[in-house]
Amino acid sequence: MLGLFSLFIALAAAYPARGPCTGDCWAHDPAMIQRESDGKYFRFSTGDGVITQTSSSLKGPWTRVGAALPNGSNINQDGLNTTDIWAPDVHYSDETYYMYYVLSKIGTQTSEIGVATSKTLEPGSWTDHGIVGIPANDDYNRIDPNWISIGGKQYLQFGSFWEDIFQVELTSALKVGSNTPYQIAYNASLNHRIEGSFLYEHGDYYYLFFSSGIAGSYTATYPAAGAEYSIRVCRSSSGTGGFVDKAGTKCTESGGTMLLASHNQVYGPGGEGVLTDKDLGPVLYYHYYPLSIKEDGGEGTAGYRYGWDKIGFVDGWPVVEAA
Ligand SMILES: *[C@@H]1O[C@H](CO)[C@@H](O)[C@H](O)[C@H]1NC(C)=O
Ligand SMILES: *[C@@H]1O[C@H](CO)[C@@H](O)[C@H](O)[C@H]1NC(C)=O
Ligand SMILES: *[C@@H]1O[C@H](CO)[C@@H](O)[C@H](O)[C@H]1NC(C)=O
Repeated sequence: MLGLFSLFIALAAAYPARGPCTGDCWAHDPAMIQRESDGKYFRFSTGDGVITQTSSSLKGPWTRVGAALPNGSNINQDGLNTTDIWAPDVHYSDETYYMYYVLSKIGTQTSEIGVATSKTLEPGSWTDHGIVGIPANDDYNRIDPNWISIGGKQYLQFGSFWEDIFQVELTSALKVGSNTPYQIAYNASLNHRIEGSFLYEHGDYYYLFFSSGIAGSYTATYPAAGAEYSIRVCRSSSGTGGFVDKAGTKCTESGGTMLLASHNQVYGPGGEGVLTDKDLGPVLYYHYYPLSIKEDGGEGTAGYRYGWDKIGFVDGWPVVEAA
């Protein structure tokens, strides 16, 4: 316990204070976007119909306004729970907001990625289009989707554990068609604990952020120090492969530079994404588990909190900065 405490102190010095939050500061595998029409911030999280929170500032006050898909997804297979929707990913293109989402049974490869669209981002305004059609495969788990456009083509990154992170080209925003997924990141250790990828273009590179380690840890019990979630990053000039970390290690060969580890109250940061803020530029957002809530015994997934930091780039690599 003393060792763990010393580690937190050591790590604490390395990071600026996280961005402030007031109001409803809960989040779980968040996706964040600023609405085009009025700059309002929307935060979407894993939960009943995709929990939606809004604010006029990143700092809050945040308000829970409802569910994106209050009646659940229309994906109907493998006994998946249609209202227990995970890991939303939201972007804007062609005057439409697209939300990729997941139905899954925890710890299994029984999972599907679906997509819904909206013109406003408001609760209940989403039209579900169902399964995007990534073929089932023992190599990957079809969870944690993330969309990007590269050179006019659309891609989804996805995956968690098994053979880790894959990418597949889409034939349209709504469908994969006959395209075949390929691996872009892999950790050879243990049971390959990486997931939650997010690909972001900045300057000359595409940056692949991902969560590494054990998620959650909702109780007063800690996994081995350093085994909990942390946020890593790799980069590539093409965006469709060749990702390496700062040391030059391939990210398909266990590479991944540490961007944000546990520090102060921020335990196990992960489930991250990057928002291009109209005023602040690139902002890293994530969930974490507050140490004080762990010390009180944990509150399950209700204990998660929203964190954010500005991102700066030093020698072409992202670093978290004070907000
Ligand atoms: C399905 O998920 C919802 C949360 O969206 C939960 O309240 C409900 O109990 C789940 N149903 C089953 C059968 O597990
Ligand atoms: C949800 O289902 C109810 C009952 O069928 C319906 O009245 C309502 O319009 C639906 N809501 C949405 C957002 O589709
Ligand atoms: C790979 O997994 C091992 C074991 O969980 C962990 O110690 C290491 O930090 C991970 N590396 C990356 C880049 O995720």
